[in-house]
Amino acid sequence: MKQSIQNIDVKGKVILVRVDYNVPLDGGVVASDLRIRASLPTLNYLRDHGAQKIILISHLGRPEGTKNKDLSLRPVADALKKLIDRVDFIDDVSGPDVEAAVRSMKAGDILLLENLRFYPGEEQNSESFIQEIIDSTGAEIFVQDGFAVIHRAHASTAAVAHCLPVYMGLLLEREVKALEKASSNPDRPLVVIIGGAKVEDKQPLIDKFTDFADHILVGGKIASDGFTSDSQKIYVAEDFDENSAGEKLDCGPLATSKFAEVIRNSKTVIWNGLLGKAEDPAFATSSTLVGELLGEAKDITSIICGGDTTAFVEKLQSEHAHLNYSLISTGGGASLDFLCDNPLPGLDVVEEA
Ligand code: 3PG
Repeated sequence: MKQSIQNIDVKGKVILVRVDYNVPLDGGVVASDLRIRASLPTLNYLRDHGAQKIILISHLGRPEGTKNKDLSLRPVADALKKLIDRVDFIDDVSGPDVEAAVRSMKAGDILLLENLRFYPGEEQNSESFIQEIIDSTGAEIFVQDGFAVIHRAHASTAAVAHCLPVYMGLLLEREVKALEKASSNPDRPLVVIIGGAKVEDKQPLIDKFTDFADHILVGGKIASDGFTSDSQKIYVAEDFDENSAGEKLDCGPLATSKFAEVIRNSKTVIWNGLLGKAEDPAFATSSTLVGELLGEAKDITSIICGGDTTAFVEKLQSEHAHLNYSLISTGGGASLDFLCDNPLPGLDVVEEA
């Protein structure tokens, strides 16, 4: 069994935590702090269990190995400071300045290092790059908590395992457990709802679940573009709401009520992809209904994944505080790769019992 920080003694240790703070920025300010908030349970756990120093590393955007001040993690540190105390930031990942910053940390302090992807070694999966970070920080344990990046083979997800033992953080552990159960041993009926625009992106999910799920419901542009299937398990939306130009932009009443009926009779639902052009309130009816149904159902395990779908559900939640989901995944590509059994280098390297 994969080991998490709950299986080890972190007291007095210097811990290097790989988080995924690849968050949207707007005018140099964090526009959604979901991924930052999602990292708090691990940070609080480490602090509460006596970790000596907590050093955070992450990427932001795709600067491709060069420094780019628009992609500095400094604004992320500012957002983190609003959520937890004793956070500091340094604009480098190794070397004398980082060594000095780490030396001045007190027990339980948190230090966020600069964007890993400013350095070519990160995406080159370079062992010497991550070893330099370890040497500069004196890290003794590596915690992988960046669920959203476990599908990448980078220095901070893969090569690091040659240098330090790797344990799951609480976010990674929670997401992996929820996705593992839903995709291997779910409470049934299992329903997979698939929407979005590009059929080629979702075909692997459809292929994986055609045999395994009890029902697959297909909406979104995939359905309105004419997706068809011979499988009895797959229901493709059959009617659509249109704009004045005749574009099919949302599932119609027949499809929406069929979706609702199947969902009400389910025990587990995995939802990936919006069912219409939901950013336009006029075409958000089917996605809203599904979001509300799942958020209100106490006896359905609901797994929400994919960037657009999770953002939509979070917005619904911010408007209706009573809505609750079993898992709103922080990883778009990672959750899809997990569900489709694709390689996950960042998870493979976690210590086994
Ligand atoms: C994500 O946002 O999906 C992760 O942070 C991974 O980012 P990447 O696609 O740039 O590797």
